[in-house]
This record gives sequence, C-alpha cells and structure tokens, in this order.
Amino acid sequence: MSADLSRRSFFRIAAAASAVATVPILTEGHLAHAQRRRFMGRHVPADAVRIDANENPLGPCSGACASISSLIPEGGRYDGELTEKFMSTFCEMEGLKSEYVIPYAGSSEPLHYTVLAFTSKDKPYVTADPGYEAGMRAADLNGAKIIKVPLTSTHTHDVKAMVAASPNAGVIYICNPNNPTGTITNREDIEYAITNKPKGSILLIDEAYIHFSDATPSLDFVKADKDVVVLRTFSKIYGMAGVRCGLVVARPDLLEKVMFYGMNAMPIMAVAAATASLQDKDIIPQRKKINADIRTQTFEWLTANNYGPFTASQSNCFMLDTKRDGKQVQAAMAKKNVYIGRVWPAWPTYVRITVGTQSDMQKFQAAYKEVMNSTAAGLEPLQLPARFAKTPFTHFS
Ligand SMILES: Cc1ncc(COP(=O)(O)O)c(C=O)c1O
Repeated sequence: MSADLSRRSFFRIAAAASAVATVPILTEGHLAHAQRRRFMGRHVPADAVRIDANENPLGPCSGACASISSLIPEGGRYDGELTEKFMSTFCEMEGLKSEYVIPYAGSSEPLHYTVLAFTSKDKPYVTADPGYEAGMRAADLNGAKIIKVPLTSTHTHDVKAMVAASPNAGVIYICNPNNPTGTITNREDIEYAITNKPKGSILLIDEAYIHFSDATPSLDFVKADKDVVVLRTFSKIYGMAGVRCGLVVARPDLLEKVMFYGMNAMPIMAVAAATASLQDKDIIPQRKKINADIRTQTFEWLTANNYGPFTASQSNCFMLDTKRDGKQVQAAMAKKNVYIGRVWPAWPTYVRITVGTQSDMQKFQAAYKEVMNSTAAGLEPLQLPARFAKTPFTHFS
C-alpha cells in the first residue's frame, strides 16, 4: 500500500468509524471447533486425527519457524519494516504494484470485508453450493440476499448460472479450488464471468488453496484493473493457519472500500514467517506433491473398497459420499478419535475430508471401514460459540 493511499484511507476510515458495524469474523477454525465440541465437549484428545479444518499438518516451513523463533525477543516492537519487506517480496514475485495489495492476519477478514463492502439489501451475494460459508455469513449480517447456485454435475462452479443469477449481484464468489469439493474453475470460465457479470458487481476469487492445484491464478485480472478481488492466505500450503497471515489483492479504489471495514498492524512473526515461506522456492512443489500423493492413495483405497463417490479434488480436501446421513458418520468417526469435516445442507450424505499425513489417512481408513460396517450413531445439534449466535444463520447443518 502506498503511503499516500494509506494516509488517505486512514483518515477516511477514522472519520467513518462510528458508522461501521463490526462483525465477528467466521473462520474455518470456528466451524471445525463447533463440530468438535458437538462430538467431544471442549477438548480434542491429543492423539486425535484432525482432518476436519483443512489445516496443513506440516505446519510452517523451516525458514518460517526460524524467523518466528528469532523474533520472539522482538515481540515488544511493532516493526512495520517487516510488513513492508513481506509486501515487497510478494509484490515482486507476483509483479504487482504495492498499492494493489493489503496484508491481513489471514484472509478471513478481507473475505468478510469485501462482502460487506460490495453487497447490500439490493445487491445479492452469489455463491456456489456447496461452497465455503464465511462469505454467506457476512452477506447475511449485511442484510444481503444469498443466492446459492448448485455446482455442475462434475462439481465445478456453474459460472454461467452464477453470472445469470441476479442482474444486481454485488459479489460473485468463486473459490478456486473450491472449499469443500477441491474442484477447480478453469480460466475460460473465469474470463466468461469477468466479461459477462452484471455491471458494477465484483468477482471475488478466493485462492486459499490455489497452490495445491493446477488452476490458473487470477492475479493478472487484477493487474488489468478488472472488477476482481483476489484473496490469498498462508494458512494452507504454507501451513500457517495458527500464525495468521493473508492478503487481499485488488485495484486501489476497490481496496479502499474493503479497508473501510477494518485494518490493523500485522503480527511481526506472521509477516516474517510469510516472507521466509515466499523465499523458500521448494516449499510449493514439495508440499503440492506430498498432498497429491496422499490424496491419490486415499482415492485409490476408497475406490478399491467401493466407497464413495468422491469429488475430483485438486486440493487438500474432498467431499465423500457416505451414502448415509453424513452427520451420523461424522459422529461415529469422532467416537473412533478421527475428526472429519462437516456436512453441507445441499449434500446431506457427503462429508468433507481434509488430506492429512499418511498416518492420519491410514487411521481414517481403519476407522471409516469400521463405521461403514456398523450401524449409525446419534448426534447433538451444532452449536456455534455464543458470539456467532446473535443472528440466525441457516447455512450450516
Ligand atoms: C476458502 C477459504 N477462504 C478463506 C479462508 C480463510 O483462511 P484464513 O483466515 O486462515 O486465512 C479459508 C480457511 O479455511 C478457506 O477455506
């Protein structure tokens, strides 16, 4: 962000601050935590298999860990230079101008803020179904209509239907690859959406999982000044979900509207770890291969055992048809100390599975076989933490 933009924005935000409603930021972690509590009270057993939150079990790379450790004594400092270094490293790698990028502690915040900025009572939020719920939550809080467009028969975004869903769409959300299915949206479809979307609507392209896949990134649309907002996070391939670092990339005039809803100083350890991760040229190909190998082995095992079908994921999660009530399968798996992902209302027999370590997936296989050979278990209703319960929200099951 240029000094000018930041100064202008700061004063605008400060002047308008009293008019801005704060919203609780809903993350994958909250959703997984709510599920875990449903099954075993407050605490996850230390030896539990946690394949319910699309986390990366490998954690931060060695360079990121070294940066974090070396910065502990500096924890008393704000040290904005570390954020500047992070931004310049990212911008240089991606060929972006600095005023097109804002860092946040994860991409959940800019995801919410983009939806708040560009939807309203008259400007709906259009999303794929099943799709990641956080944007729906923000749209709901904003009083915006939520239009859910079913995935195609191959479980990809039905971009044509999404674009046609509302002439007044405020935000059309494309998660590429999609959470929860792991399926990708190809370049032609994204181009179609940019060319044919209603005038004034924003295409929000969430690339949280892009590095696991062969999908083409969409940053060049931002560089070409299109009505596109791209989200990136270090929570997935870089294994920094608990460290918290992400980015929003868009035209400066769009970013100003996003920032209006919130900005903060970045945690110094997060930006230093993210910089070290970007500088590690091997981490993406290495981790992409590890994830793909374990995912392929899991798919082979499912196929050999006549389980499924499952979605053609290119990511670290996939949806698996249990051919039963998915919530009961979840509960039964939890009893075996294997915590699998949630069920989406549109697909009640499917559960989301995160690709864990080889050992995680072996334990998953053993437990899944036992569950499939047994009768279903009972289930308590899902209870989000109280701060999320103020507004009724019906997009979880
Ligand atoms: C699709 C998608 N977008 C954004 C996020 C936000 O992640 P974070 O706030 O950890 O960067 C997640 C988290 O799982 C996600 O699945």
